[in-house]
Amino acid sequence: MRISEQLFPRPVVLITTVDKDGKSNVMTASFVMPVSFSPKYVAVAIAPSRYTFKNISEVKEFGVNVCSEEMLEMAKLCGSYSGREVDKFELANLEKESSVKIRAPLIKNSPISFECVVEEMKEFGDHWLVVGRVVREVVRKERFKPLLHKSGGTFPKLKID
Ligand SMILES: Cc1cc2nc3c(=O)[nH]c(=O)nc-3n(C[C@H](O)[C@H](O)[C@H](O)COP(=O)(O)O)c2cc1C
Repeated sequence: MRISEQLFPRPVVLITTVDKDGKSNVMTASFVMPVSFSPKYVAVAIAPSRYTFKNISEVKEFGVNVCSEEMLEMAKLCGSYSGREVDKFELANLEKESSVKIRAPLIKNSPISFECVVEEMKEFGDHWLVVGRVVREVVRKERFKPLLHKSGGTFPKLKID
C-alpha cells in the first residue's frame, strides 16, 4: 500500500514558483503540513523530478495556495503537466496575483495563499522536505470547503459544513 492511501485525507494546495529569470510555474501538492503557529511555518514534500523543485532549489521562495472544492479541475491539470512544457496558469485558467514579499505569484482563485521563504530543504527517500517560513498571507475567504486528496484520482469529499 502506498503511504498516500494510508495517511489521508490531505488538503490540496497549488505551489507557485519562479525560475531564475522570473518565469512562473504552478504545481499541485498534497504532501503538505502546518509546522508552527508563530512564526508560521509550512512544510511540503516535493519530488526532485518536478520543475517546481528546480525553481525552489534555485530561488528559495514559493507560494502555497490552498484549494477549495471548486478547484478540483485546476488541481488535476496542475498535477498532470509539467511547467517545462506548458503554461499551466493559462491551461487551468488560473488568475495570478502579485506577491509582496516573494517573486512567485499567488493564485487569486484560492481562498488562502501564503508567501514562503525556504528555511530548510532535506532529502527523505523519493521526496525532499521543503520547510517554508510564511512571510505574508492573504485570506480571501475564511469559510470554504477544502479540496482533499487520498491517492491518484481519489478526492474524498468533506461531509460537514
Ligand atoms: C492531487 C495531486 C497531489 C500531488 N501531490 C504532490 C506532492 O505533494 N508532491 C509532489 O512532488 N508531487 C505531487 N503531485 C504531482 C505533481 O503535481 C506533478 O508531477 C506536476 O506535473 C509537477 O509539475 P512541475 O513539473 O511543473 O513542477 C501531485 C499531483 C496531484 C494531481
